[in-house]
Amino acid sequence: MKRLGSIPMAATRLLDPERAHDLAALALRAGLLPLRSRRVTSKRLATSLAGLELPNPVGLAAGLDKNAVALSALSRVGFGFLEVGAATPLPQPGNPKPRLFRLDEDRAAINRFGFNSDGMRKVAARLAKWRSSRRGEDCVIGLNLGANRGSEDPAADFASVLAECGPHLDFATVNVSSPNTAGLRGLQSAERLERVLDCVMQASSRLSRPIPVFVKIAPDMDDGDLSDVVRVVRETGVAGIVATNTTVAREGLKSRHRDESGGLSGRPLFDMSTRVLARLWRLSEGSIPLIGVGGVGSAQDAYDKIRAGAGAVQLYTAMVFDGLGLAARIAEGLDALLERDGHARVADAVGADAEKWL
Ligand code: FNR
Repeated sequence: MKRLGSIPMAATRLLDPERAHDLAALALRAGLLPLRSRRVTSKRLATSLAGLELPNPVGLAAGLDKNAVALSALSRVGFGFLEVGAATPLPQPGNPKPRLFRLDEDRAAINRFGFNSDGMRKVAARLAKWRSSRRGEDCVIGLNLGANRGSEDPAADFASVLAECGPHLDFATVNVSSPNTAGLRGLQSAERLERVLDCVMQASSRLSRPIPVFVKIAPDMDDGDLSDVVRVVRETGVAGIVATNTTVAREGLKSRHRDESGGLSGRPLFDMSTRVLARLWRLSEGSIPLIGVGGVGSAQDAYDKIRAGAGAVQLYTAMVFDGLGLAARIAEGLDALLERDGHARVADAVGADAEKWL
């Protein structure tokens, strides 16, 4: 049977990628898909990460639903958790179009959206409405925190988005790794990261219900950078690390659009992001919750990320090629792989192969 979730996304592949993306988002917003709600869980798949209770460890990565307009549909396709955003304090249009390119032969994408956002007020209102709905109550939802273009104090931007939206969230992610906002990735250096995370953690502690805060890092970091990140995460009380965002590297690509500027995602990012993940696992001796993201397109990929050190995974680009039905297929396939290898729980497999990636 053709999976319902894959029809609109696949049909829109003939269009210009951003137009296709907008149409798919519109379809989602209108609740056109999926028709049937999928909740994928089992004793093996249900897992806890940084205090979050997830029905399964397969999540939606930031960037697909930047403005929290498609929660109703996205909550039905089988994800164990959703991350929406990035949201910025003030609304902003992002970079001029074209700013999204599909690299078909490489099963990849390059984007330079530059945080197009409706702004935190609108996003908070949508999250509040969703949270008060019946299905919104038990969906694990996080928000990717962004900074306005040209902001003089990105740390304050992240903190204000968290203060505004935090009451309607289960977790938040500080995004210091998008390559499309000038200067943002410079915040990953130890001293600046410490200040940014301190500021965000203060905002989190002022919430009536503090939530776990993650930091999302770029894949283009060496061992020295990564050990600084681990130290700062420990010192600031950040709950975990999302590894990784898109890359500015361009090796080995075949597709026409390979030289476009922006962040590369999808299959070519898999090895690079998994290596970073495994390094973080080793540097932290498995003590920091890690979300593995970058190039996940199958159950085996999700399993490999978990075995490299991820307590949960996220994906985005593979769904552009295979449709939203992929989320449930990956979660179900992961269950079968865990069972095959005699793991009673996700946690039993986390980091089992980390050494292989170092
Ligand atoms: C992204 N990603 C992203 N990440 C983030 O932290 N904030 C964001 O706003 C966005 N926006 C965004 C837009 C588009 C069009 C893409 C393709 C990606 C990065 C994303 O969350 C993820 O880290 C990477 O795409 C790697 O995962 P995949 O796509 O290879 O599964």
